[in-house]
Amino acid sequence: MKCFLRLAGGLAVLGVVALLAFIYVPVKRTAPSEELAAGWQPEPGQGEYVMHASDCVACHTAPGGEPLAGGRAIASPMGTIWSTNITPDPETGIGGWTLDEFRASLVDGIAADGTHLYPAMPYENYRLMTEADIRALYGYMMNEVEPVRNEVETTSLAFPFNLRFGIRAWNWLALGHASGPSAEIAGTPEARGRYLVEGAGHCAACHSPRTPFMSQDGVTAADGNFLAGGVIDGWNAPALHGDGSALKDWSVAELAAYLATGRNAHSAANGEMGLVVEHSLQHLSDADNLAMAAFLKGLDGDAGGIPETLAANSGSLPEAPADAAGEATAAMLTEAQPGMPEGARLYLDNCSGCHFVTGKGAPEIFPELAGNSLVTGSETGPLLSVILNGADVPPTGKRPMHLVMQGYAERLDDGEIAELASFLRSAWGNDAPAVSAADVAAVRGAAATH
Ligand code: HEC
Ligand code: HEC
Ligand code: HEC
Repeated sequence: MKCFLRLAGGLAVLGVVALLAFIYVPVKRTAPSEELAAGWQPEPGQGEYVMHASDCVACHTAPGGEPLAGGRAIASPMGTIWSTNITPDPETGIGGWTLDEFRASLVDGIAADGTHLYPAMPYENYRLMTEADIRALYGYMMNEVEPVRNEVETTSLAFPFNLRFGIRAWNWLALGHASGPSAEIAGTPEARGRYLVEGAGHCAACHSPRTPFMSQDGVTAADGNFLAGGVIDGWNAPALHGDGSALKDWSVAELAAYLATGRNAHSAANGEMGLVVEHSLQHLSDADNLAMAAFLKGLDGDAGGIPETLAANSGSLPEAPADAAGEATAAMLTEAQPGMPEGARLYLDNCSGCHFVTGKGAPEIFPELAGNSLVTGSETGPLLSVILNGADVPPTGKRPMHLVMQGYAERLDDGEIAELASFLRSAWGNDAPAVSAADVAAVRGAAATH
């Protein structure tokens, strides 16, 4: 709440600054970041590929609605923002938009009628896309997407957030990066990976922290807090590099497999990340998922060469934990004794059949719970929700197996789940604070009202 007040205060001041800016500065669209040769044409399929890589469907599709026809409610600290219809319907969509108008929505966050878009539309990231990709995307949106007539809800936030020109001042603060890619994109796979992660993939929109003004703190790899971990809708979007990141124990091939299929030997993609895999990353080439993985691992200086394929499912169990903490927990669980802590006993009875006493699970089938960022995250809601309601990683083209974990809401009470979750957060070398029965009750209650 405090943070929200600070934000509201900050934005109110910005509103005044913006009012002055509004009087003096006309709306200006940024020119293309590069000149393309006369007669330039996209590669066949390029536009659709860019659409997948940038995941326009994620936000511009209502639950159960037509793809890209808008109407998804996006929660923000300022209130609900409704995504728009971006099919080429001339009246309710973007059918009449020129290339320049379309580019301005991606690069400057300016709609065709000159209004400023709320940064829920991730133009902070899309402005790093090449002119060629923007043009290919425009061609695809205008010519290959079916027009859908769909009048979406109008966004009306409370004062002062309803004053869209205030966004101009916000842009002035937040859009520190020129349009166009932040670095050379050709040459190495890492450079291609960087381009996809920073631009179209807009990974920083979830995985970078936010400034007090709610802009992304770390948009490109040159920025301090780039992908240092963020929170989205009560989920941890974990750090993707650095000492605290689970990725330090993943190989490039394993990381690429997680991106392409939502699973690998260590983890499974839940919540928003499951959707990113389902709608976006599974449609990219293995080469591009490997390139992104190599770039991310390279942030810690340990890419170690790029394999040719995603990590295959070896089918064999990983070796028992080598570290002392992991062995101590496994040994304690193996020798079930009467005095065993309740959380450990509950794990042995309910969970170890799939996730094993080692907490290592089985590659690409049962996720590893040791060192798992969903288990140890500062936001405990996702872990408690998985235990209560189960988990459901979407099947993908490359891993069609549909894996579902049942929930334990009926079998275990709040106190038992708190003990169990606290055990998981401290077993096998995991080192995160305990959760309380009240935490569990809150997540159980929230699920019931949905
Ligand atoms: C993270 C969510 C998100 C993603 C991803 C996203 N958008 Fe948006 N977009 C929005 C929201 C929300 C709005 C409405 C903002 C507003 O009302 O100010 C919007 C507005 C727009 C508009 C303005 C339409 C109008 O009628 O004013 C265009 C054009 C647009 N988006 C295109 C795209 C394209 C193309 C992509 C993929 C490259 C994309 N968006 C990806 C959330 C998103
Ligand atoms: C809409 C928000 C969102 C976007 C965009 C997003 N992620 Fe995520 N990501 C998440 C969340 C939430 C999780 C945690 C999922 C879980 O706990 O199962 C996650 C988890 C991950 C993980 C696993 C980390 C770990 O420690 O287990 C990786 C790797 C990852 N994301 C990579 C990416 C990459 C690369 C991109 C861009 C191409 C991206 N993400 C875009 C929200 C997002
Ligand atoms: C029948 C096998 C099975 C049992 C028993 C089981 N799980 Fe799972 N668990 C899975 C599968 C499969 C997944 C991956 C599916 C997914 O995440 O959507 C999973 C995922 C998870 C995750 C999310 C990990 C991640 O990286 O996303 C957690 C946490 C978890 N289980 C904890 C538990 C706990 C605690 C218990 C006991 C109360 C338990 N599981 C019992 C099969 C099982």
